Amino acid sequence: MNRYFLDTNTTSSIQIRPYKSYSYLIGIITLALSYGSVIAASDVPPFLHPGNLLQRFNLPNNFPFPNSSGYAATYSKNGFIDLGNEFFQNLGTNGRSCASCHQPQEGWTITPAGVRARFKLTAGKDPIFRTNDGSNSPDLDVSSVAARRSAYSMLLSKGLIRVGIGIPENAEFELIAVDDPYNFASAKELSLFRRPLPSTNLKFLSTVMFDGRETFPGQTIHFDLGHQANDATIGHAMAAEDLLPTQVESIINFETALTTAQVFDRRARWLNASGAKGGPVNLAKQNFYIGINDNFGDSLTHLPFDKVVFNIYDTWNELTGNAVMQARAAVARGQAIFNTKSISIEDVSGINDEAAFGNPTKVMGTCTTCHDTPNSGNHSVVAPLNIGISDASRRTLDMPLYTLMNKTTGETVQTTDPGRALISGKWKHIGRFKGPILRNLASRAPYFHNGSAPDLKAVVNFYQQRFSVIFTQQEKADLVAFLNTL
Ligand code: HEC
Ligand code: HEC
Repeated sequence: MNRYFLDTNTTSSIQIRPYKSYSYLIGIITLALSYGSVIAASDVPPFLHPGNLLQRFNLPNNFPFPNSSGYAATYSKNGFIDLGNEFFQNLGTNGRSCASCHQPQEGWTITPAGVRARFKLTAGKDPIFRTNDGSNSPDLDVSSVAARRSAYSMLLSKGLIRVGIGIPENAEFELIAVDDPYNFASAKELSLFRRPLPSTNLKFLSTVMFDGRETFPGQTIHFDLGHQANDATIGHAMAAEDLLPTQVESIINFETALTTAQVFDRRARWLNASGAKGGPVNLAKQNFYIGINDNFGDSLTHLPFDKVVFNIYDTWNELTGNAVMQARAAVARGQAIFNTKSISIEDVSGINDEAAFGNPTKVMGTCTTCHDTPNSGNHSVVAPLNIGISDASRRTLDMPLYTLMNKTTGETVQTTDPGRALISGKWKHIGRFKGPILRNLASRAPYFHNGSAPDLKAVVNFYQQRFSVIFTQQEKADLVAFLNTL
């Protein structure tokens, strides 16, 4: 293996060439990872499965996988990425592994392009195409290729998995109307179309799952992830029995050792050049504890909240010169916009209605008010927020729409996903979701829990519109350039 693309400390632009000359090898390994599971699902004898062959190998640390704006790589503090780990094994009854929905070469989630490639290769029979939660409803016809293409349309178009959750007992609300284009959802099981969250960079987690349903009060993140792995095996992979404790530990050990980030940007080139601190190796060194840089003071140091959350591109400030230097300066400007651009936070349930914020209708903040974890960007405490992604006004016709009624006040609200409220039963939690880790974004479009933003420009446009932020075209381009390098 050429040392250049294994060594994230290489910085000069001359050393980009090995990347290019090895792009075939990268391509072959990417294909093998994608299609390993595909062949495994077919009738080829097991010893010929590329998946099984691959599992004898390890993926070296910092192996680059291409994405829309360059290359991303994963670093494991265990020294390599063990493709034989339980994470890649079929532990249930429907052929799926964790990697069915958390593909290393797709940012440890799935991309619509990757899902479509698997569909094409297997005529829609890869284990990700299962009706328990892969299709738009469990009842749809999947007997022909055409039927499968239509039944799995949410997965194929936006990489969405159908998470089924019912209205909890003792909820403060009831479901009074369902408009489900797939004629399945009911109070017993609402269909919630969600993006798989990346199973990497987990060291920064304060909340497991978009709605925090795998975060248990008083428990450690270790416990939460073990519970999550077992639930995923029983739910997604339809296992009949719980995982063995040794299997759970092995999965946790595997996934929590990983950091993933962009390493190379087509315009700004190496993301650790000239003192910059991009890439997964630097990310692995980043400290985290629950409540770090919290809005109400750091839980450990008691220092006040610092809106400067990202500092990895500080040394790129005001670079001038050739196109690469200019691209680096743009990334640094984008970082400053993320840290400091003023945003008037209004109508966000979880902030504007919370006593801790003194119930003000307007909170002057920044992107980092909600994305407060240093150089990671998730919320450092459990703080699900409703920024309006599942509002009826943003519903697209491929999404179900639910009408909920408050049992006490009779008030009604429409949403495509009640989020946290389906776990807590609380009216005020409707539409609240966690702020996810913002690293390795370039690998994992589309964004938000329901994949409603096709690219990072659309994410920025959403914030511009939702919070009436006045961005110049230049500021938007800089912010997108920065987000692409994370
Ligand atoms: C069928 C697809 C699928 C399979 C298989 C699957 N997951 Fe997931 N995973 C998801 C989805 C979808 C979410 C987000 C769901 C939500 O938030 O409601 C998720 C979330 C997660 C998260 C939470 C990350 C975070 O930021 O909160 C972890 C960790 C995870 N999965 C690990 C695993 C492991 C370990 C396995 C195997 C035991 C597994 N997954 C199998 C689809 C899948
Ligand atoms: C009021 C709190 C808040 C502010 C301010 C905020 N965000 Fe977010 N952000 C969130 C929440 C909550 C989510 C998850 C929403 C969902 O999926 O329903 C999110 C999601 C995202 C995502 C998608 C991540 C993914 O994995 O899909 C990106 C990117 C993002 N925010 C960038 C930004 C940028 C850039 C800004 C500033 C212009 C910003 N955010 C300001 C709360 C906030």
